[in-house]
Amino acid sequence: MSSYRIEGGAVLRGDVSISGSKNAVLGILAASMLLDGPCILENVPQIADVQAMLEICETLGAVITPLGTGMYKVDPTNITSHEATHAKVKNIRASYYLLGAMLSRFKKATMHMPGGCNFGTRPIDLHLKGFSKLGARGTDASDIRDGIIRIVADRLYGGHVFLDVVSVGATINIMLAATRAEGLTTIENAAKEPHIVDVANFLNAMGANIKGAGTETIRIKGVPVLPGGYSYSIIPDQIEAGTYMIASAMTRGDVTIHNLIPKHMEPLSAKLIEMGFSIEEGDESIRVSIDADKKIEPANFKTMPYPGFPTDLQPQVTSLLCLADGLSRMHENVWDNRFQYVNELQSMGADISVIGRVALVNGPARLSGSNVVAMDLRAGAALVLAGLVANGVTTISAAQRIDRGYERIVEKLSALGAKIERFDDDDLECARPLAD
Ligand code: UD1
Repeated sequence: MSSYRIEGGAVLRGDVSISGSKNAVLGILAASMLLDGPCILENVPQIADVQAMLEICETLGAVITPLGTGMYKVDPTNITSHEATHAKVKNIRASYYLLGAMLSRFKKATMHMPGGCNFGTRPIDLHLKGFSKLGARGTDASDIRDGIIRIVADRLYGGHVFLDVVSVGATINIMLAATRAEGLTTIENAAKEPHIVDVANFLNAMGANIKGAGTETIRIKGVPVLPGGYSYSIIPDQIEAGTYMIASAMTRGDVTIHNLIPKHMEPLSAKLIEMGFSIEEGDESIRVSIDADKKIEPANFKTMPYPGFPTDLQPQVTSLLCLADGLSRMHENVWDNRFQYVNELQSMGADISVIGRVALVNGPARLSGSNVVAMDLRAGAALVLAGLVANGVTTISAAQRIDRGYERIVEKLSALGAKIERFDDDDLECARPLAD
């Protein structure tokens, strides 16, 4: 267990650099298990979920060699196992990508049901339905016994898959399964998130034939061999970048966030402008500031698949809305239970009421330091942001959940002027116990 202690009130100023995308690299690591030869991955974020995925890949037989900060040689040449039953599979959601990868490579895959953040029902029925269209068996809910999925195909062939719900995970997983299948697979109503494009670009660089990633129709022509042999650099993390943009906004600071893709940030940038902030875009940077004495305007948000407003920034923006002058609405349209952190913000003085999938946020609130718990990764980030502007000291326990997705967050925020420290295990004085 870790905990963060934040003394609120510092105004953030300066420059921060964004790390590689968590969700892209997790998909790409799974995709690398499909290759016939090694590849080199660059801009790999040093976060807990990546460490877990690297360990899982090693248990399958991949040889992973660190080559420097954020750089790894991944050699899957001698993978012999199609069974991803390492205990850590249950800890991270993206381990489900190994199903598609193993199915593609071995025509069979055995895996624990994946874990990840708990914000409502997180089914994988669309992934399994997609695999069945490519010829796999063992894809019915009734086939999952003792929490283990076992799928197998005599032949894996191209198929037509229509996703009745836009799903990031299902899109990538079916793409992985189809990469080495015989013939053409079409995914309709595909998700368009930047990390889907990144996984497709990685696979194409390694020898795959995938067209249309980033649109609602993806066409994958199966190839028998994926030679690998190249280096690939992971795209910047859209959600980490958004979190630092909000940190600058909330502290009424002046921060330039580097190594991001401004296009990916448009759903957030547009709303921050609406709320009164100034956004200055460079080629690979965004500066967020606000004029002295300018009020923060309330705003209404609705989370949607990309290019809509990302659900993974919903908790962080709700913290920001607490500071706006008036009533704001946050409509969570992707997950059915993603407001679990609201109690924690209320304990800091936030005026928020949740009605179904909508949070009504009344501001401006005078937030006060409190002892709070990071219920999940992005919920934890929202509490860090609230702690930065709260009066007094905020202690966030279960902060290891925040480490799952933010590289060196304590160091990055400190460099911008925040007063934040990390405590581990026995150092903790006032963290509440967590029922995990
Ligand atoms: C991914 C992200 C997660 C983000 C989410 C939405 C990773 C590792 N995680 O999660 O951070 O919050 O996208 O942007 O990339 N659904 C089904 N059946 C399925 C799959 C999904 O009904 O088989 C539904 C879900 O219940 C949810 C919606 O589809 O309501 C979107 O889920 P999905 O895009 O699949 O999320 P993940 O890929 O799990």
